[in-house]
Amino acid sequence: MRLLGSLFFAVVVAAGVGERMNTSLPKQYLPLLGKPVLAYTLEAFERCEAITEVTVVIHPLHEEIFRREILKKYDFRKLRHYVFGGATRQDSVYEGIKLYRDCLEDFVLIHDGVRPLISEGIIKRCVEEVAQFEAVCVAIPSVDTLKLSPDGKTIEGTLDRRKVWRAQTPQAFRVSLILEALERAQKEGFCGTDDASLVERLGFPVRIVLGSEENLKITTPQDFLIAEEMLRWRIRWSR
Ligand code: C5P
Repeated sequence: MRLLGSLFFAVVVAAGVGERMNTSLPKQYLPLLGKPVLAYTLEAFERCEAITEVTVVIHPLHEEIFRREILKKYDFRKLRHYVFGGATRQDSVYEGIKLYRDCLEDFVLIHDGVRPLISEGIIKRCVEEVAQFEAVCVAIPSVDTLKLSPDGKTIEGTLDRRKVWRAQTPQAFRVSLILEALERAQKEGFCGTDDASLVERLGFPVRIVLGSEENLKITTPQDFLIAEEMLRWRIRWSR
């Protein structure tokens, strides 16, 4: 669908190896109530009318699992490409975004494959806001007080909680802007843990879109339990 004459692509990064789960299957392919984590993530983008197409970035060693657990089992019509990622998340994002080099005026939403509980509402808000502001980052206020401690032993300082936000994904940008930011970061040897930080380095303002605690990044076995419980709630409430 064209909104204000532009297209909205999604790049879902799922090329991580995730050492913290201690399981043989990578976490993005582990079942949540019987369905792989990545399948929930892709379903959310599939359902969102404003999204034109989806590219998934996978690890080359996971190609067989990806084909077996995702491509063969689900009919994701918007899933047009899959490409192989790189050593860091930033490298993986770059591999996905490169596909849209010819669509510089359009927009791309970058999302972590391991955030399966992303809601259609948040995706829609990203689409609306990025069309207006060109750079947006889903984030939530911090309920914890955050401390600075470079050595992990002694506290060096305390951040003002009222000013601190926890970044999530999607993070969405005009394609030309995120490509420039990625290429500049690469040239200068900067490696960020999210995409907005690369755009911030250009001095471009990044707008916050309110996220949700539900949009958690599955990292540990405990996160799996929490995600399953939230899914049960969703199923119960949707009846
Ligand atoms: O590294 P982090 O835990 O922040 O990972 C967030 C997302 O980035 C995950 O979905 C993971 O699969 C992806 N990732 C990637 N390529 C890497 C590292 C992480 O696509 N090299």
